[in-house]
Amino acid sequence: MTAKLIDGAALARSIRQQCAARAKTLTEAGRQPGLAVVLVGDSPASAVYVRHKINDCKEAGIRSVLDHLPADTTEQALLARVRELNEDPSIDGILVQLPLPKQISEQRVIATIAAHKDVDGFHVANAGALMTGATGFRPCTPYGVMKLLESAGVPLAGAEAVVVGRSNIVGKPQAMLLLQSDATVTICHSRTRNLAEHTRRADVLVAAVGRAKMITADMVKPGATIIDVGMNRDENGKLCGDVDFESVAAVAGAITPVPGGVGPMTRAMLLVNTLEAAERASAGGT
Ligand code: GUN
Repeated sequence: MTAKLIDGAALARSIRQQCAARAKTLTEAGRQPGLAVVLVGDSPASAVYVRHKINDCKEAGIRSVLDHLPADTTEQALLARVRELNEDPSIDGILVQLPLPKQISEQRVIATIAAHKDVDGFHVANAGALMTGATGFRPCTPYGVMKLLESAGVPLAGAEAVVVGRSNIVGKPQAMLLLQSDATVTICHSRTRNLAEHTRRADVLVAAVGRAKMITADMVKPGATIIDVGMNRDENGKLCGDVDFESVAAVAGAITPVPGGVGPMTRAMLLVNTLEAAERASAGGT
């Protein structure tokens, strides 16, 4: 391996510590930050994610409220719960864990969350704010990736950045954030022709596809910075990213591991967004 390892676990730890200090200041001023996490149904993966988020809050001194609703919850009931949380002054952030059961429209649920409490940054008002450069919440994963790039000292102005994946949660907001940092951005996806021709031009390559080890060494420019957002299982059931780490690390300049790269940063940025919401609310704004 020649690439420098970008340690997301370490950076996330220091961000969590900063968050704990900010939470303490708010709490001492009589206003402990609060996050509501809503989980619908019994997906084991979602349960794990939610448990981590609740634990992170506890460690940082953020009050969290977990609403675990049954899998057959109606959309109407969930929307009613979200509206209650919107009105609750002790709640600064609301996170509804996705995916939701199929009888519920994710889009309507996200649209119902008050934009100033949407710490996931999924509401159209926050997506629009990101697009136009206005103040708003940035989705946690791409926001965390930007912090990783910054910590690794990766120059972005004028750089070729290629994002593989076009989801609303990662690919699209990632591209906007890279653009804001003056990179020249290409978004590739499942219908892209000659994917490797694009990825080989990348100074910064962000892989967010959800397919195990699909980015191989021949698709990477020597010296490039590789950010792996993937979280998959390989043929032996071992956790792996979208990047074939062993081979790519031999050509890349810097690379994030899976686990220990983007994952812990996503969780840390949720705390950052929650504190941002709490500080704004505490300052009297929304
Ligand atoms: N499901 C997978 N990732 C996320 C996320 O970042 N936020 C929410 N609410 N659900 C998710």
